[in-house]
Amino acid sequence: MLRTEDTNETSGLSPDERTRLAIEQAATEVRALTAIKGRKLKSAVVTFGCQMNARDSEKLRGILESAGFIDTDSEEEADFILYNTCTVRENADQHVYGRLGILTGLKKKRPDLIVGLCGCMMQEPHVVAKIRKSYPVVDLIFGTHNLFTFPELLAKILREKKRVIELWDGTDSIVENLPVKRKYAFKSGVNIMFGCNNFCSYCIVPYVRGRERSRLDTDILAEVRALAADGVKEIMLLGQNVNSYGKTLSQGTSFPQLLAKVAETDGIERVRFMTSHPKDLSDELIDVIASHEKICRHFHLPVQSGSTRILGMMNRHYTRETYLSLIEKIRAAVPEISLTTDIIVGFPGETEGDFQDTLSLVREVGFDSAFTFLYSKRTGTPAAEREDQVPPDVAHERFERLLAAVKETGEAASSRFLGRVMDVLVEEQNKDPRLMSGRISQNITVHFPGDKSLIGSIRPVHLTESKGFYYFGELA
Ligand code: 5AD
Ligand code: SF4
Repeated sequence: MLRTEDTNETSGLSPDERTRLAIEQAATEVRALTAIKGRKLKSAVVTFGCQMNARDSEKLRGILESAGFIDTDSEEEADFILYNTCTVRENADQHVYGRLGILTGLKKKRPDLIVGLCGCMMQEPHVVAKIRKSYPVVDLIFGTHNLFTFPELLAKILREKKRVIELWDGTDSIVENLPVKRKYAFKSGVNIMFGCNNFCSYCIVPYVRGRERSRLDTDILAEVRALAADGVKEIMLLGQNVNSYGKTLSQGTSFPQLLAKVAETDGIERVRFMTSHPKDLSDELIDVIASHEKICRHFHLPVQSGSTRILGMMNRHYTRETYLSLIEKIRAAVPEISLTTDIIVGFPGETEGDFQDTLSLVREVGFDSAFTFLYSKRTGTPAAEREDQVPPDVAHERFERLLAAVKETGEAASSRFLGRVMDVLVEEQNKDPRLMSGRISQNITVHFPGDKSLIGSIRPVHLTESKGFYYFGELA
C-alpha cells in the first residue's frame, strides 16, 4: 500500500516508479563517471544517531548501491560521503562540524569528492544556515521528511555538480519499498512508525521528525515475511514510541497485537522493539511478551529521572511510583527480563534532592544497564527557555555519581546468568579473531571461542565468566 504526496513534475508516476526512474537517472551518471575515472565509484554513509537513523542509513546505502556505487567504510576512499546526522544532544552536532572540518581538507586533495548531509540535524534551520554560510565543502543537503527523494537529488548532484539543498517542513507520507542494503544478513530493523507526538520538554525529536505516523500492519508484516525469506532471524521493531503504534490509523491493530504477529512469523526467531514510553505501556503488551518466547527478554524503558517533580517538568506523564509499579509488573510476568533505561542528569531546576531520587531509583530497580546523558539545551524546546539551568560543574559532578551507581547495579544485575547455558545469536568476529561475539535474548553480549561459520546462527553457550556488562563463554 503506498501513500505519498504528489507534488512535483513527475506527478502521475507512483512513488515506486519515481524512485526507480530517479535511480536509473543516477545510474546513468554513475556509469558516465565510472568510464571517465576508469574505476568503480565508491560511497560511504556514516550513521551518527539512533537505531532509526541507522535504519535510514541502510536505505541510503541501498539507493547508492542500486545507482552503481560500491559501499565502503573508508571516507578516504569514497567518491561520495553522506553523513546521516543526529541532533538529540548538542555534542552530536559538534561532532558533525568537527568532521566537516576534516572533509574540507580531504576535498582540497580530491576536488571531485561529493559531500552530502542528511538526517535530524538538517531539520533545524539554524544548522542549515550555518552550513550554507561556513561549510562550502557540503554539496548536498536533505532532511528526514524527504529521505525518499534522495534518488532524485543524487541524480541531480551527479548531473549538475552544483550545490543541491532540499528540505521539507513536514510530511504525511510514508514511502514504501525503497531499496535497502542491510548491515547484517541475519538481523534487521523494521520501522513501524515515524515521528513523535509526546513533546517531552527537553527533546528536539518531535520538531525534527514531525508528527507521529504509523505504517500499515499489512506493509510491516509483508516486510517481515520478506526479511524472513531472505534469512533474517531477528527483527527490531522501531519507533520513537512504539506503544502508541496505530493511533493514527483506522485499522485498529495495537502494538501488542502487531508484536505478536511479528513473533508468529515463520522463520523469525527473535523480536525486539525500541523505544517504549512508560506512559502508555499496557498490560496487554506485558501479556504478549510473557506468552511469546520469541520476544526477547529485554525491555528498554527510559525513565529519564527518578524525581516525580522533574518528570512533571519534563512532561513525561508518569510518576516515580507509577514507573516503579510498571517495573514490578514486568518482572512479575517475565522474571528473566533484563531492564535498561535512559537517564538525563541536570535537567533545569534539578536539585540535589531530585538527583538523590534518581540515584535511589537506579538502586531500587537494579537496571542491567543505563544510558546516562548530561542534559543538553536544544534550541526551540520549552526546557531551553527555563532560567534555572543547572551549572555545568554541578551537572558533571552528579553525572559521575550516577555513572558509578549504574555501574555497580548493572554489574550485579547482568551477572545473574553466570554458569547458565543460554542461546546466543552469533553476530560477528571479535577484535580477538579467536573469539566470536553474540547476544543472549536479554541483549547482553557474550564472547566465546568459535569461527566465522557460526555467524547468523543461534547457539547454546555456557556463560563461564561475567565481566560486568558482558560474558565470556564456551559453546555448550
Ligand atoms: N539532553 C540530554 N539527553 C537527551 N535525550 C533526549 N533529549 C535530550 C537532551 N536534550 C536522551 C533521552 C532519550 C535519549 C534517546 O536521549 O534520555 O531517551
Ligand atoms: Fe534518532 Fe533522535 Fe538522533 Fe534523530 S535526533 S537520529 S531520531 S536520536
